[in-house]
Amino acid sequence: MKITQTEFIQSTDSLVHLPKQQLPEFAFVGRSNVGKSSLINMLLQRKNLAHTSQKPGKTRTINHYKINQQWYMVDLPGYGYAQTSKKERKRMIQFLRDYMLQAPTLMNLFVLLDARIIPQKSDLQFMEWLGVHEIPFTMVFTKIDKLSSSALKKNMVRYREEMLKSWEFLPPVIQTSSHSGQGREEILQYIEQILEIS
Ligand code: GTP
Ligand code: MG
Repeated sequence: MKITQTEFIQSTDSLVHLPKQQLPEFAFVGRSNVGKSSLINMLLQRKNLAHTSQKPGKTRTINHYKINQQWYMVDLPGYGYAQTSKKERKRMIQFLRDYMLQAPTLMNLFVLLDARIIPQKSDLQFMEWLGVHEIPFTMVFTKIDKLSSSALKKNMVRYREEMLKSWEFLPPVIQTSSHSGQGREEILQYIEQILEIS
């Protein structure tokens, strides 16, 4: 898919203030600092449209970007950031879950996972919850430029083993690097396919 137009629509921390115009949505979710905002910039080929930071906890609102006047790309706050209080983490997870259950046009969720880190309980639990609620998602591994191909393979095997403990079929997997641009075509094609059949 060619990105011909990108428009920032709005930023909100309240589920009652989501955009009035309903369009198919593709949202990016994952733990703080995993690279959600960077991936959105990479996909849209815009340097700092979505704000990124070396410090976790940068994105704290739901951000809608209208693409090609046809669909929304949605940047979400991170979950599971260790330095925030347990209460705050719980509140954020609940907020994200409420968004996912309420977004009537959510077509697919991209769950971002740091390729360098072994499967984490918070991510596994989150994906299980998505399964229970039948929310379609893709596993997107980020920062693959930061590890060797053998280390990447090893962690993919580990993920596979871990996921197969509770999943009969595995969701699609895409490997990405916001630095090299790897995975861009694959994600955009995936979105295009879903838009075509919907
Ligand atoms: P929150 O908004 O805090 O939840 O974080 P986020 O998931 O949006 O992460 P963000 O995109 O702000 O990136 C966090 C840090 O990781 C930044 O310093 C990025 O430069 C770095 N980063 C993100 N993606 C990649 C990547 O593919 N490769 C490398 N090497 N660094 C990356
Ligand atoms: Mg962010």
